[in-house]
Amino acid sequence: MIQYDETHQIFKLDTPHTSYIFGLADNYPGHIYYGKKLGDTDLAWLLRAEDRPQPPSVLRREKTSFFDFFPMEYPFEGVGDFRECCINIRTEDGQEGLELTYQSHRIFRGKRVLPGLPSTQGEDSSTLEVELLDKVTGLTVVLSYTVFDDTDAVAQSVRVRNGGERPLFLTKVLSACLHVEPDMGAGQEMEVLTLPGSWGRERSMQRQKMGYGTVSAESKRGVSSHQSHPFMALVSKNCTQTVGEVYAMNFVYSGNFAARAMKDQFDRIRMVMGIHPERFCWKLAPGEEFQAPEVVLVYSDEGLGKMTRSFHDLYRKHLIRGYWKDRRRPVLINNWEATYFNFNTEKLLEIAREAAKAGIEMLVVDDGWFGHREMDDSSLGDWTVNEEKLPGGFRYLADEVNRLGMKLGIWLEPEMISEDSDLYRAHPDWALQLKGREPGQCRAQYVLDLSRQEVRAYIYDRIKEVLSSANIEYVKWDMNRPLADVGNAVLSPDQQGEISHRYMLAVYEMQERLLKDFPKLLLENCSSGGGRFDPGILYYSPQIWCSDDTDAVERLAIQEGTQLLYPLSSIGAHVSACPNHQTGRTVPLEMRGIAALSGTFGYELDITRLSEDEKKQILEQTKLCRQYSALIREGDYYRLESWQRSHAFDSYMVVSKDRKEALLTCVQVLSRPNRASRRLRLQGLDPEAFYEIEGKSFQGATLMYAGLLIPPAHGDFQARLIPIRQMA
Ligand code: GLA
Repeated sequence: MIQYDETHQIFKLDTPHTSYIFGLADNYPGHIYYGKKLGDTDLAWLLRAEDRPQPPSVLRREKTSFFDFFPMEYPFEGVGDFRECCINIRTEDGQEGLELTYQSHRIFRGKRVLPGLPSTQGEDSSTLEVELLDKVTGLTVVLSYTVFDDTDAVAQSVRVRNGGERPLFLTKVLSACLHVEPDMGAGQEMEVLTLPGSWGRERSMQRQKMGYGTVSAESKRGVSSHQSHPFMALVSKNCTQTVGEVYAMNFVYSGNFAARAMKDQFDRIRMVMGIHPERFCWKLAPGEEFQAPEVVLVYSDEGLGKMTRSFHDLYRKHLIRGYWKDRRRPVLINNWEATYFNFNTEKLLEIAREAAKAGIEMLVVDDGWFGHREMDDSSLGDWTVNEEKLPGGFRYLADEVNRLGMKLGIWLEPEMISEDSDLYRAHPDWALQLKGREPGQCRAQYVLDLSRQEVRAYIYDRIKEVLSSANIEYVKWDMNRPLADVGNAVLSPDQQGEISHRYMLAVYEMQERLLKDFPKLLLENCSSGGGRFDPGILYYSPQIWCSDDTDAVERLAIQEGTQLLYPLSSIGAHVSACPNHQTGRTVPLEMRGIAALSGTFGYELDITRLSEDEKKQILEQTKLCRQYSALIREGDYYRLESWQRSHAFDSYMVVSKDRKEALLTCVQVLSRPNRASRRLRLQGLDPEAFYEIEGKSFQGATLMYAGLLIPPAHGDFQARLIPIRQMA
């Protein structure tokens, strides 16, 4: 629900358990509060306290000091706010700075779609739009806030319009800003939580003290990236999974971003997030608009666990779309680690035959089926089937695979071009490049300049042809290098700063077209593993490949970091062969299966090389996956123990919304001698109800407050799946 209290000039946005509040002082919108739900709107005193710097109508001589203090809801650069700001412009005269004041607002049911961009959706929501104006240039800024009836999250975005008569250059336009006062956070010191990483080590959880100055998380790689993540949270120092306060932001965008938290001279923290202002400059002709992407905010007063569940609910209900949204996804087998580039139809069918017997439902043909690609150094852009490897193309393969009762999926990397490709020989200027400089290769490839309409139209038509050639029901859309040499000879010199964002809009446009043309297609995004795992791309594909590191132990950490924000149903996780190709580690098949169960579940190995015993185990695993799929997809997630933190033990549980059923996963990663059993406190159960665990009955309260005993296992890499069911 959204209210405007006209007497006090207060906007109050309520979710089921939280309130987000800001108000006007001298027509400057100022942030007042985000936290547990409040009943009152008489809160102007929090914004206009007399012992604080007063607005210009009261104290004209200190306007700059006022800007440097005031918790501006959408802070602007150049006229006295010296903290992290959200917006800046440059005029034709080369001058920077603007001043935004309130003009009008509207409140309506539902939510607008952001043109060309991913965003949360839902009619069961209310939206507030507040229009601000820079009187000198005529620039208008519309701040948009949506709250959902059923989820504790606030979605924010910003639309800018040049209402003046001269062109303007937007040099910075972030999407959200939040202020936290020192005494909020229960009077505690705050910390900043981010998710940095690397290829094969995505999304590790890092907490650092919020001292004076700025903490940032950012990407200038053209993708949200392995190295950083478009997420930042301010957490109270005492924050754990179950206690403490959390103010979190996640960016619904897949390109360059910046998230910054800054503690000012008055001990207040300002957190901002949006498109990275470096590599960005957008020309706005008179009358033109720019839509900045969406940031979603979540507040929790019960630690990280509650934040996680709010994000999961938000993304499951209001972001993920399409045919596969609430459907069980097929258990797949991908040939990448099984064969790399060395395969043909016969080999693929051998894999498919064994896979079908083991209950696997889809074969995915990974990299190497097109052009003359035998290695990673050729043919990207030449999207025609290599009939020497696959005679009869995908039509024949799909028919055979379908005959086995399985589906067929394929890998694509539409955003790239190899130097050794017919496409590059014909159109060398289609690669992103800076004038007079030879563009740099990465994985022996260049990035296609998708900001150009003719380039993306050509590529889209080629992939559409491939997908129309056979019954292809799944696509793994890969993207295997960052954007560098970002320039082209097509856009005018004063628009070169638009290319990175135009590129992202192009990727979104292509994926949107794909979903329109093939509405039942299951799309899985990927970027050298988990380099583009973000809410933006989740809008197009309900699942995303989580990491190229398929080692089950490593995956415990990577998946924990990913599950902090994203529902299990969105996390691409496969059982792979041992010794593992990334780490050389050997882990029992049982643990590999259990680790993959906390994601979309599939296989990435040559099943024809496994023993009969192993194949039987796989049959059992695929049965288990089907049995628990709905619970894992729809249930509430509780993180109990962390291998990332403890380096010993990992545990989480999923509990059905009605609390009747739960699945507990425990992994003893390393074995130690002379250990007693562990008392593991469960979460999320009904305290009054009785539950059956392995033939014994326990009350929910006992399991949650006193705990369940987990005896030490003998040996490393010992995983257990413990079903929990409410007794009738
Ligand atoms: C990327 C992906 C892998 C695989 C290869 C193929 O690295 O993350 O899963 O598809 O590309 O080249």
